[in-house]
Amino acid sequence: MKKGLFITFEGPDGSGKSTQISRLKKRLESLHISTILTREPGGTLIGEKIREIILDVEHTEMDHLTEALLYAAARSQHVSQVIQPAIDRGEAVICDRFMDSSIAYQGFGRGLGDQVRIINEYAVRGLVPDLTFLLLLDPALGKKRIHRDYDRLEKEEDEFHQMVYQGYMQLAAAFPERVVAIDAAKSILEIEEEINRHFDPLLEEWSNQ
Ligand code: TMP
Repeated sequence: MKKGLFITFEGPDGSGKSTQISRLKKRLESLHISTILTREPGGTLIGEKIREIILDVEHTEMDHLTEALLYAAARSQHVSQVIQPAIDRGEAVICDRFMDSSIAYQGFGRGLGDQVRIINEYAVRGLVPDLTFLLLLDPALGKKRIHRDYDRLEKEEDEFHQMVYQGYMQLAAAFPERVVAIDAAKSILEIEEEINRHFDPLLEEWSNQ
């Protein structure tokens, strides 16, 4: 059986990932491709519980390394229980955030550096997205787009979010084949067209497998 597709969406908080994710899912479904939509941290019962612990605004005492390990633990469960099995069944998986979020937020934002990559290599067991759409938006603008109470990470200082942004820029520069950086200040339709333009060649290659 042919292997599935693994697509991830990344970006600072408020960069408009959800809108584009649901549009891509609809497109895949219209092409009769069985598609799973999932998110991190979360996507499993265990992962959702870990998510609550990580994002709880009362957990101000959380150590940065603990935070990184919790994200990686949720990811490990997600990969083994949901993502890898779906890929093995030949389905498409669209994931709202994956390992790149940890590199940007914990590696750059928290300043944990390369430790984060090492921890996560254990968690993902060699799984790498086929394509990653990185919606880049000035963090100050992103914050303004969040119309609900901030979670523990969103509450962080502007300096933290600037470092996350820098981390994402470095990821885009380091992995130009996989990471497609898109200006998230563009219109929804423009962003969607850009996503489709990059996604179509992969889809064609995958369909001809
Ligand atoms: P979400 O609001 O996009 O669902 O993500 C929850 C928050 O967790 C968001 O502020 C980004 C952050 N995050 C990390 O810091 N590291 C990670 O590995 C992931 C997946 C998310």
